[in-house]
Amino acid sequence: TETLKIAIAGLGTVGASTIKLLQAEPTHGGSGRNIEVVAVSARDRTRERGVDLSGARWFDDPVEMAGCDADVFVELIGGAGGAALASVEAALTSGKAVVTANKALLAEHGMRLVGMAEGANVPLLYEAAVAGAIPAIRTVRDGLAGVPISSVLGIMNGTCNYILTRMEAEGIGFDECLADAQRLGYAEADPTFDVDGFDTAHKLAILASIAFTTEIDAGAMNIEGIRGIEPADIAAAAELGFRIKLLGIATMTEDGVDQRVHPTMVPRGSALAETSGVTNAVSIRGEAFTELVLSGPGAGGMATASAVVSDLTDLARGLAPRPLGRPASSLLPFRKPQA
Ligand code: HSE
Repeated sequence: TETLKIAIAGLGTVGASTIKLLQAEPTHGGSGRNIEVVAVSARDRTRERGVDLSGARWFDDPVEMAGCDADVFVELIGGAGGAALASVEAALTSGKAVVTANKALLAEHGMRLVGMAEGANVPLLYEAAVAGAIPAIRTVRDGLAGVPISSVLGIMNGTCNYILTRMEAEGIGFDECLADAQRLGYAEADPTFDVDGFDTAHKLAILASIAFTTEIDAGAMNIEGIRGIEPADIAAAAELGFRIKLLGIATMTEDGVDQRVHPTMVPRGSALAETSGVTNAVSIRGEAFTELVLSGPGAGGMATASAVVSDLTDLARGLAPRPLGRPASSLLPFRKPQA
C-alpha cells in the first residue's frame, strides 16, 4: 500500500519527538501504511536533534515546503501568526491535509482555517493542541459523538499545574518553579501564555467548540492566571481541605456557552485536586454519562508528539473526520463575560 508522505515544519522538542516516535513504530497502528517524513523545515539547520533526517528534504522556508510533494503538512512551529499561519494556509491551499499542535493559531484563526480546509476538502487535525497526550478532542468529537455535553473543564496547562504542585509540596516561590518548568521544556516560548492563563484559554476555546458545536472563540472569556498565587494562599486553601488549581471551564447555559479561566479551590480527594505536576486532567460532563475524567501528561515533547502521531495514524488509516466547520444555523451565541 501507498506510503503516507509527511512534511514537518518546526523541529523543536515536539518535532524531534514526533520523528522519533514515527521511526520507532513500523506498523503505524495497523494501518498497513508506511508513514515517511519526506521533508522538514526549521530555522537552524545545524542543530543536533538526535534524529536521522537524512531521508528528508530540507527547506529553510516552511511556506515553500507547504508546496512540496507530501500528503500531509505537520505544523509544529508555534505562534498565532507568522510562519505557522502562512505555511498552514499555503498547505491547505495546495490541497494537503494539515496536522497541527498549535493552540494559539487555532484560537485566533481556527474558524478561517477550518473554512479553508472544508473548501479544499482536506482534513485539519489538532489533537496535540489540547492537553498533550490526552485524547481530549477525540473523546469529545468521536467518543461522545452525538451525546449532549453540559460542560468541559479541567487542568489544561502543565506548566501552571507543575508550578502550583511544587509551590505546595516544597513551599518554594513562583519564579523558581517557573524557571524549572522552562528548563524541562513544558513552558511556551513566552511563558506569559502559560502563567497568565492564555494557553488554557486557547485550549478551552478549542475543546468547547467541539463539545458544543460552536465557533472557536477565545475572545469572549474572563481569564485570570496564577501569577498572583502565593505559598500562603496555597496553605490557606489546604487548611480548608482544598487545593488551588488553574481551571478552564466551559458550560452550556441558556444564553450560550460560558467560558472562563481562573484559579479555583478544588476539594482534596477529587480527581482534579489529585492531579499533580505536569499532568493535565479534563472532565467532561453530561446528563447521560455523568462524568468522564481523562488525565495524563499535558506537556513535553514525547507526550505532545504522541497526539501528533495519533492524528497521522488516523490519516494513514483513512479515518480522518471532516473538518469541524459548522453550518451557521447551529451556532450559539457566546455569553459575554460579566465584570
Ligand atoms: N506550555 C504548555 C503547557 C504546553 O505547559 O501545558 C502544552 O500545550
